[in-house]
Amino acid sequence: MAAWNIGKVVEHKQWSNALHSLYVEADIEPFEAGQFVKIALEIKGEVIGRPYSLVNPPDSRPLEFFYIEVPNGQLASHLVKLISGDEILVAPHANGFMILDEVPQARHLWLMATGTGAGPFLSILATDKPWQNFERVVLVYAVRTFSELSYQERISQILAKHPGQFTFIPFLSREPSDFALPGRIPQAIIDGRLEAHAGIKISTENSQIMLCGNPKMVKDTTNALIERGLKKHHRFDPGQITAENYW
Ligand SMILES: Cc1cc2nc3c(=O)[nH]c(=O)nc-3n(C[C@H](O)[C@H](O)[C@H](O)COP(=O)(O)OP(=O)(O)OC[C@H]3O[C@@H](n4cnc5c(N)ncnc54)[C@H](O)[C@@H]3O)c2cc1C
Ligand SMILES: NC(=O)c1ccc[n+]([C@@H]2O[C@H](COP(=O)([O-])OP(=O)(O)OC[C@H]3O[C@@H](n4cnc5c(N)ncnc54)[C@H](OP(=O)(O)O)[C@@H]3O)[C@@H](O)[C@H]2O)c1
Repeated sequence: MAAWNIGKVVEHKQWSNALHSLYVEADIEPFEAGQFVKIALEIKGEVIGRPYSLVNPPDSRPLEFFYIEVPNGQLASHLVKLISGDEILVAPHANGFMILDEVPQARHLWLMATGTGAGPFLSILATDKPWQNFERVVLVYAVRTFSELSYQERISQILAKHPGQFTFIPFLSREPSDFALPGRIPQAIIDGRLEAHAGIKISTENSQIMLCGNPKMVKDTTNALIERGLKKHHRFDPGQITAENYW
């Protein structure tokens, strides 16, 4: 099988100074919400590929990627130049274990993301599984400033579709606001603000937690949850914490 399929960019949306979404028509094999696929460009004769989470749910096209232009990023600094009609390489298979089929049954599902880590959770939230499997679903989405809080319209649609079952908790760490929590996710777990805001408690019996984005957030949040008695989930040793580091 070929290492890459040739895809075509059909739209490029810019959310803020550094945040973008890329929409691509390409063949890929069936995937699960929460997975990622490698995309690549040929840059100076070399194919540079990186993994990106799929934001679209499995039954929807085009493929959607939410990414940040990291300073001097080898690939991302070229992705930002793509326009409709340009070609992009897409790996034929998606991968990854941050999917609901890997998450044990519980009453409450907590999805906690920093930055572009919200992308795979939007894919999961667009499927039926979270709404069928969990009484309550909480999306926690932490960014630095309001301008980086992307996908607000889609999140509002989820709120309208699942009133009472879905709670959205944004964090803005570097800008005051009257609707988002200040500071960082792990601190808000330690001091109880996150649960107070959600109106439900995090516990070993009732909670499953998925973490995605900045590896330091994943580590600090995991530690805060371990302090509360939760543990990392493994197939052979079930727990409550499933995580994906973006770097
Ligand atoms: C499983 C997986 C899924 C991923 N999904 C996404 C995604 O959906 N969207 C996305 O933007 N990135 C995602 N990434 C990161 C992505 O693969 C690249 O690492 C990123 O775009 C930078 O690539 P680059 O070649 O431009 O930068 P490089 O020159 O390779 O620089 C890498 C550095 O950029 C920083 N960085 C990388 N990714 C991010 C990020 N997302 N947010 C903030 N800082 C970052 C880190 O400091 C890292 O060391 C994912 C990574 C993994 C492992
Ligand atoms: N955001 C931008 O406008 C922008 C623009 C150009 C380039 N960049 C670069 O892109 C990269 C990523 O920026 P980003 O803003 O998407 O991602 P980020 O640095 O991961 O920040 C996203 C959120 O994660 C929080 N966070 C960071 N460390 C944490 C930890 N240990 N525990 C819990 N939460 C934590 C941040 O809080 P804090 O604010 O408290 O750190 C912020 O609220 C950086 O290299 C940045 O310099 C960013």
